[in-house]
Amino acid sequence: MGAISGAALAPAQQHEPSAAARLPVFPDPTQLDPLLSDFLHQTTEQLCRWWADSAHSSPLPLLSVLPEVAPGRQGLSSAALLDDLQLVMDGAFNPVHPGSMAHLDPPPLTASVAADLICAGLNNNLLAEELSPSLSRLERSLCGWMASCLGLCNQAGGDAASGGSLSNLMALVVARQQRALVGVDQALVFCSADAHVSIAKALAVMGLPPSALRPVAVDADGALCVDQLADALDQADSAGIPVLGVVATAGTTVRGAVDPLAPIAALCRPRGIWLHVDGAIGAVFGLSSSQAALVPDLGVADSLTVNPQKLLGITKTSSLLLLPQPDALARCFATGLPYMEPSWADAHGGECGLQGTRPAEVLKLWLGLRQLGLTGIEQLLDGAVRRRAQLQSLLASLPLELSSGPLHLLAFTPEGLNAAASNLWSQQTRQRLLERQMMLSRPLYRGRHHLKAVLGNPYTGSTELETVAEVVAESFSLSPFC
Ligand SMILES: Cc1ncc(COP(=O)(O)O)c(C=O)c1O
Repeated sequence: MGAISGAALAPAQQHEPSAAARLPVFPDPTQLDPLLSDFLHQTTEQLCRWWADSAHSSPLPLLSVLPEVAPGRQGLSSAALLDDLQLVMDGAFNPVHPGSMAHLDPPPLTASVAADLICAGLNNNLLAEELSPSLSRLERSLCGWMASCLGLCNQAGGDAASGGSLSNLMALVVARQQRALVGVDQALVFCSADAHVSIAKALAVMGLPPSALRPVAVDADGALCVDQLADALDQADSAGIPVLGVVATAGTTVRGAVDPLAPIAALCRPRGIWLHVDGAIGAVFGLSSSQAALVPDLGVADSLTVNPQKLLGITKTSSLLLLPQPDALARCFATGLPYMEPSWADAHGGECGLQGTRPAEVLKLWLGLRQLGLTGIEQLLDGAVRRRAQLQSLLASLPLELSSGPLHLLAFTPEGLNAAASNLWSQQTRQRLLERQMMLSRPLYRGRHHLKAVLGNPYTGSTELETVAEVVAESFSLSPFC
């Protein structure tokens, strides 16, 4: 059988007759290959140019040409690969654009991008220690640091996972196991009516019926009503229905509201109910001494999701599940890895969570945080909250219902519109905003469509915020519904 040589593949003639076609398909283990260095250099150069052009295009390109999808008979040359890459880049959503404020997708931290490249190049595997010796230790250490920084106890730690949904799912699977409710179909989970859809998805994956999820009403600030939770827990107790857990949210998806964690914990503790805090949006505020008061009492959690991809600019994906007793993870997920050498610590990465093979996502989190430093983290968080407050005051004189919380999210819709009218208003206004290169999102919240701004992009300045306010103000004279 003919093996592919690492050194070279046959050139793709239509693209490249030249020597550049000798790009090695695998890195040379014996010497530095100038063609490979050149290829990686050109790739990063192309990316840097894409970033540098961001402000001159739209955050959301509408039409783009996709390159050929199927591999040809001959592999492509480096020049052809870069051309194809460029076509995909031309059609990509651009988080670096100053008008990009639609979602929880900020510009990437540059050190995080570099770490992502190194992560791919190292191609280590967090499944088992022998496949990622330094990186497994780095992940454990960083989880420990992050947990204690956020107020969990000194022994706390956790596990990385690919996204907040997966961290939330793992938390509920651990809660069920810790509370000895595996196989109990009647078990309930309480969360606020504004909790993220990943909680419902988690229960579905766990084989629980949709009725197992009990949404609790929120107050005027979007925070879970503790009195109503207390009543609901009492009712479950009197009816003899077991409660698998309560999910509190530190930073809701539409408006960034923060549930009152300490009072919720005070209800859960005496009843022996697991408290999971979904801090996918808000927990990072706990890293900054000047902002931590916006998300108080994160340390009361039995498990806490932190998702630094959403605001700090850690490249996707980056999520941690932190627990005061991290060995609960291995107790829940360990199956043994009979084809691996034993773990040098308590358990392999692949036995502490749902994922088996996974990349060393910790690298870009660690390097990104090191690049920012505590001051940089604080400045990013301060800036995000300041922009939200600025947009809020620019919109304050308009006949809008503004929904926010203490963080960096703001949703709004005209006062008094019904569902159909809010749908039309939000579509038209979003379109007008896009024509001015401003991208907001259009969530359906409490039965009506809103426009939502997520203000984590440090390149969004006063000019962009004023443009948003101007377009929204114009919508009242243009829309037949306002
Ligand atoms: C509050 C909250 N939790 C969890 C998630 C899920 O995170 P991911 O999209 O990384 O799975 C989101 C996503 O927006 C969220 O807003």
